[in-house]
Amino acid sequence: SLRNLGNGHGRESALQLFVQAKKRINDIFKDIGDYVVEADTFVRKLVASKPAVGVTETEVISPENAEVVKGFKSKIDGIREVLARDHMKVVFFGRTSNGKSTVINAMLREKILPSGIGHTTHCFIQVEGSDNQEASVLTEDSNLPKSLHSIKELASALSSGKLKENSLIRILWPKNKCRLLREDIIFLDSPGIDVSPDLDEWIDKFCLDADVFVLVANAESTLMQTEKKFFHKVSSRLSKPNVFVLQNRWDVSEMEEEIDKVKQQHIDYNTQFLADELQVVDKREAKDRVFFVSAREALVSRLQNDTGIPTPDRVLLPGFQARLFEFANFENKFEVCISKSAVKTKFEQHTDRGKSITCDLRSVMGQVYTTSNTLQESQQRLRQERADELDFLIKQLDLLTREVKEKIRVMVEDVERKVASALND
Ligand code: GTP
Ligand code: MG
Repeated sequence: SLRNLGNGHGRESALQLFVQAKKRINDIFKDIGDYVVEADTFVRKLVASKPAVGVTETEVISPENAEVVKGFKSKIDGIREVLARDHMKVVFFGRTSNGKSTVINAMLREKILPSGIGHTTHCFIQVEGSDNQEASVLTEDSNLPKSLHSIKELASALSSGKLKENSLIRILWPKNKCRLLREDIIFLDSPGIDVSPDLDEWIDKFCLDADVFVLVANAESTLMQTEKKFFHKVSSRLSKPNVFVLQNRWDVSEMEEEIDKVKQQHIDYNTQFLADELQVVDKREAKDRVFFVSAREALVSRLQNDTGIPTPDRVLLPGFQARLFEFANFENKFEVCISKSAVKTKFEQHTDRGKSITCDLRSVMGQVYTTSNTLQESQQRLRQERADELDFLIKQLDLLTREVKEKIRVMVEDVERKVASALND
């Protein structure tokens, strides 16, 4: 049914790949952390212990190595801190009024971001999940979230004050209201790409940690030079960025004549852009990166469906079912792509660092083991040498005793003999 077309009702979400991997890598780093603490306690006891009696070479672990073990703890703590903040990030770009904010709202199944005709989004707006029950807003000038009771309030917060277009506003939205936020996705909405002269700064500030880029294009016109230029810049900074192209407003375009021809033209043009120009996918993969959608219809029908009453068909333009299906299809492909990509880019570096820390710790503990073995052997050798000396002494004493006994016997016999002969005489 249409109700099941969107956003993960009744199916295992592809985003779970990231969610589960994050949980797993967290557990592993907790174990490594426990092991490091245990090793550190052990090493500190070793350093504090008295040298064994009679042993000259007493240092089981050098002070430098003891320091190294101590250092592992803060390294692991650092990684765990970064891990807790790791998430999947999707950024949306496109010309003014192409429907970026509407696409995000449709994916979130809620009218969170202000949208409208004209230049609506004036700065970068990030939507992220929060464990609080109430929504709040964080601006760059303060660490204190301000509570947010309505979308109207947000709209006025966004329009009041002179917001610079490269400033960032963070909306902390209750996770329990939205699956995608619960599953650790962060959405970043941007002002129209055509209004900023400084795209480099945008890329440096907002895009370097992005896992997926969505170019929201207007199906009524082909991609413009500004849009293409931006993505050329992105792909020169990031190796093979994941780019999706949404040909939005397809509800309006599909009414036009010879629409199949126009659609094919868009497909050819976008494929050429992604595969030949940007070289971020091959031609075959490019078909899973271009979608013909209507964000407006997706949002309207989802909001309506979530109330439990089906959307009256007259609200939507003919052929809307196929477009809703296409939107859900985009989301499926997007979820698979973002979770795979984020697991690789975010966790691979942690895995490598975790491996190198455990290897280093293993080598230090290995050294401790070898040194303590050598010490034990030399102690045993010493004990053996003393035992040999004692043995020799006992034997000598034995020999001596036997000699003395013999001498006494001879003397006694001699005396006896002498006494006997004296008696005879
Ligand atoms: P800026 O924030 O100004 O850069 O614009 P934007 O890209 O965020 O566009 P926004 O989501 O504000 O949408 C602009 C207007 O287009 C709004 O009135 C939307 O309702 C409308 N709109 C968005 N998507 C569609 C669509 O798929 N079909 C139709 N017919 N209208 C749409
Ligand atoms: Mg907008």
